[in-house]
Amino acid sequence: MKFFAVLALCVVGAIAVPLSADQAGLVKSTWSQVKNNEVDILAAVFSAYPDIQARFPQFAGKDVASLKDTAAFATHAGRIVGFVSEIIALIGNESNAPAVNTLVGQLAASHKGRGIQQAQFNEFRTALVSYLSSNVAWNDATAAAWTAGLDNIYGLLFAAL
Ligand code: HEM
Ligand SMILES: *[C@@H]1O[C@H](CO)[C@@H](O)[C@H](O)[C@H]1NC(C)=O
Repeated sequence: MKFFAVLALCVVGAIAVPLSADQAGLVKSTWSQVKNNEVDILAAVFSAYPDIQARFPQFAGKDVASLKDTAAFATHAGRIVGFVSEIIALIGNESNAPAVNTLVGQLAASHKGRGIQQAQFNEFRTALVSYLSSNVAWNDATAAAWTAGLDNIYGLLFAAL
């Protein structure tokens, strides 16, 4: 009985397997190499997935290269990338699990209200990992650490979306 309850929770992704200390460290150290490239990161996401850009009324249909120089773009890039930084600052310490839950729950709620679906969040994930893999020291261990971390966060996100 208990087994099936646990299995059911795993299937909906509500159970996060904590990252090892090494994995949390790898996510933090690689993220610190790019976390100040906010504009560059959001531009990479928009270029890879114009359907994401199209959801932003103030950016839709505009040329990404020219958007990169605008204050509005920098502001929004700072919000999104800043959110990733907040989460990454909390991982690797089980005591922070409730705070991670709260933040991810808020992200899910605000985006659910906008009708953003899992498919677009998955596109964002693909674009983020692609950006990382070409801008930080990347190998099998860093890739596995990011997969584990993003699986956890996306499990929480999708359970609430
Ligand atoms: C993947 C598809 C996504 C779409 C289409 C999307 C779309 C939007 C839109 C339309 C807004 C409102 C912008 C405005 O106020 O002018 C917004 C706000 C925001 N987004 Fe996203 N978003 C996506 C993913 C994400 C992700 C992955 C994060 C964080 C890592 C994020 C973080 C935020 C934050 C922090 C705000 C501002 C606060 C809020 O309203 O919640 N978004 N998003
Ligand atoms: C883990 O997080 C708790 C609560 O935020 C904090 O009190 C504690 O100092 C943190 N431990 C480490 C090793 O950072």
